[in-house]
Amino acid sequence: MLTLLRCRCSSRLFYSTLRPATLDVCGTSYPTDTLTNVPASIISKIPLRLHTQPSHPLANLRSLIESHYPDFSHLSSFSPLVTPFKNFDELSFPLDHPGRSATDSYYINKDLMLRTHTSAHEVEVFRAGHEKWLLTADVYRRDEIDASHYPVFHQVEGAKLFDATPSAMDALREENAVLEKRLEAENIVIEDVPHVSGTNPVQEGHEREHAELVTKNLKGELNRLILGLFGGREGQGEEPLRVRWIEAYFPFTSPSFEVEVFFRGKWLEILGCGVVRQATLDTAGVQNKIGWAFGLGLERIAMILYSIPDIRLFWSTDPRFLSQFKEGEIATFKPYSKYPSCFKDVSFWLPQQGGLHENDFCDLVRDVAGDLVEDVKKIDAFVHPKTGKSSLCYRVNYRSMDRSLSNEETNDIHKAVVSRLTNEFGVEIR
Ligand code: PHE
Repeated sequence: MLTLLRCRCSSRLFYSTLRPATLDVCGTSYPTDTLTNVPASIISKIPLRLHTQPSHPLANLRSLIESHYPDFSHLSSFSPLVTPFKNFDELSFPLDHPGRSATDSYYINKDLMLRTHTSAHEVEVFRAGHEKWLLTADVYRRDEIDASHYPVFHQVEGAKLFDATPSAMDALREENAVLEKRLEAENIVIEDVPHVSGTNPVQEGHEREHAELVTKNLKGELNRLILGLFGGREGQGEEPLRVRWIEAYFPFTSPSFEVEVFFRGKWLEILGCGVVRQATLDTAGVQNKIGWAFGLGLERIAMILYSIPDIRLFWSTDPRFLSQFKEGEIATFKPYSKYPSCFKDVSFWLPQQGGLHENDFCDLVRDVAGDLVEDVKKIDAFVHPKTGKSSLCYRVNYRSMDRSLSNEETNDIHKAVVSRLTNEFGVEIR
């Protein structure tokens, strides 16, 4: 069985001896290489598919979103194993985009990775002939550990194409006017930005007016969805729902936007979107169409709507969690108990050659402690003025979601973390 594998260039040589020749993912064996970095704890999440588990809060939210788009294709059975080509190149990501690095993404090997976003399926879904669709799936990103970050989360991608003809654009103009009228009657305040601007340009080959009509439709559709999800919920009172649109950049859309919602006193970013890059449609063999796409994070929205305080709860099998949710209902989560936390520090010298990315440390802790780790913070870093050696100190907060951990158990887990840190990264404990 695979233990944790590291992929930082600097550590590669050091760890290549620890790497097994193959990696078993859901019953299929894949050859490993120097890029391989998926820990067993992540592989074990692949078959779970929370977004398809009956009455799971993420599945309920998916159904709710789907109910807002009844005439779209609703897709949800795509495997998370994709080629880097599909995740990045097909979507016009530049070669030096940081998302490609093994510190940010999980690689089975250099030819296969875990998708980092649902946009990875845009080309194949357009190629299959779908013109309006929603796709829900699990996505994987190496990240820090705290109450709102988990290396596996779920996204819904949505897209709609229109004929790039004068008559279709006339129809779209009318549709947009209807959408706008409907929203005017609602208790919502929208801070908008121009559909197209110097810093958020229309694509070469698009008529400006077409791009503006498509953008306006995208904004109208998403404002309608957001109102449906957040409007009039508990804690909102009579206050209007506030939504703001912000210019953004994605390699596969232009113009591009992010959307934030003001909920219980804070602005929360919930989605990215834009006008689909024509290159994506060209690759998919779609001609004479123009369209929009969006991608939203389900956990983020579910945590807000259900008042779920910690992202690990979505993975809980505790009936005290799961029994609180029913399909078609958004109820406020009632925390059943908060168990004590246990903080443990680890300080160490880094080896002369070889580094340790924060995501490496987080993956290691997650692999040993599973969901018993609540957060990880770097509390100290310095370089010794004489020896030039670097020292790091991390504080790990262990806390179970459903029981009290004994000090003995926490000590054993922490010892295992320290021992793997020493063996796999060659650090010297201080
Ligand atoms: N895939 C983007 C992300 O994960 C979101 C997005 C989807 C942006 C579709 C534009 C269009 O951040």
